[in-house]
Amino acid sequence: MRALVTGAAGFIGSHLCAHLLAAGDTVVGVDSLTDSYDPALKEANLRVPAASPAFTFHRADLLAADLGALLDGVDAVYHLAGQPGVRPSWGREFALYTSRNVLATQALLEAARGRPLRKFVYASSSSVYGDALRSPTPETTCPRPVSPYGVTKLAGEQLCELYRTAYGLPSASLRLFTVYGPRQRPDMAFARLVAAAASGEPFPLYGDGEQTRDFTYVRDVVGAMRDAVRSRFTGVANLGGGSPVSMKQAIAAVERVIGPVALELHPEGPGDARHTSADITLAAREFGFRPRTELHDGLAAMAGARERRG
Ligand SMILES: NC(=O)c1ccc[n+]([C@@H]2O[C@H](COP(=O)([O-])OP(=O)(O)OC[C@H]3O[C@@H](n4cnc5c(N)ncnc54)[C@H](O)[C@@H]3O)[C@@H](O)[C@H]2O)c1
Repeated sequence: MRALVTGAAGFIGSHLCAHLLAAGDTVVGVDSLTDSYDPALKEANLRVPAASPAFTFHRADLLAADLGALLDGVDAVYHLAGQPGVRPSWGREFALYTSRNVLATQALLEAARGRPLRKFVYASSSSVYGDALRSPTPETTCPRPVSPYGVTKLAGEQLCELYRTAYGLPSASLRLFTVYGPRQRPDMAFARLVAAAASGEPFPLYGDGEQTRDFTYVRDVVGAMRDAVRSRFTGVANLGGGSPVSMKQAIAAVERVIGPVALELHPEGPGDARHTSADITLAAREFGFRPRTELHDGLAAMAGARERRG
């Protein structure tokens, strides 16, 4: 299969490219290497897929690229490019979120419609739920984002649904629940916790530490994305780790794997959901999703990768 991966140089995108290549697919990667975090880290992320002759990379912004040329001969689109992060999505930065999460998604859908695609996978987010009333949360729960980021991810997802129903584009929006693993974005909790445990620098903890997250290991996520493409599934499905833990428990887990973490306490920020917990019945039934990685093992892999990087 020939795949187009947008956001190929990002945390999840680089793992996805490596997974697709290992499974025998041909991969066209595209990424503009935005400065949402150090672009040098994104360049380093590309080293693994770039070693394969079946990988080609285009440094381009989806809002300026020749999308028709990128889509030529492609069987599956994995659309991961976007502006992530909940807290910075308030205020003036929102323009970046609308451009990278909404306008870029619409441009890609528009270029993809009418093409004989097997699937258009969209990396949606648990943040579309906000403070969900049901836990674990099924896809039928009414989305009520509590952050501007969540609003833009929901808009992207609704655009995918619209192109699916209006034009028959076979889209699958996968709502990812807090993904972690080696090369995690440096602004995310586990990346900062692992760094804090290794360096002795304090970790800024927002809120009382009782908020829970359904952490999902990156290899389980990228495996499920490819499985979704090969299944008959279209629509919206959750991808969560299946066993939510509180931030306090997450910190304790990092301490068991690496060592003590000094905490710097901050009040809870606006935009943070209190709890996230995925009902994964639909993904299990439709494309055999089963989270396989225990938190301890995933954290050990992150710590090992960090040590190897030096
Ligand atoms: N990491 C998570 O826990 C998580 C959870 C839910 C959803 N998601 C979604 O998954 C996707 C990947 O997340 P990630 O954590 O790997 O983030 P990331 O920032 O590491 O990767 C996103 C990549 O997209 C690129 N990009 C942004 N706008 C672009 C544009 N207009 N054209 C080309 N490239 C562009 C960036 O340079 C970046 O490399 C995002 O869409 C995010 O919203 C992530």
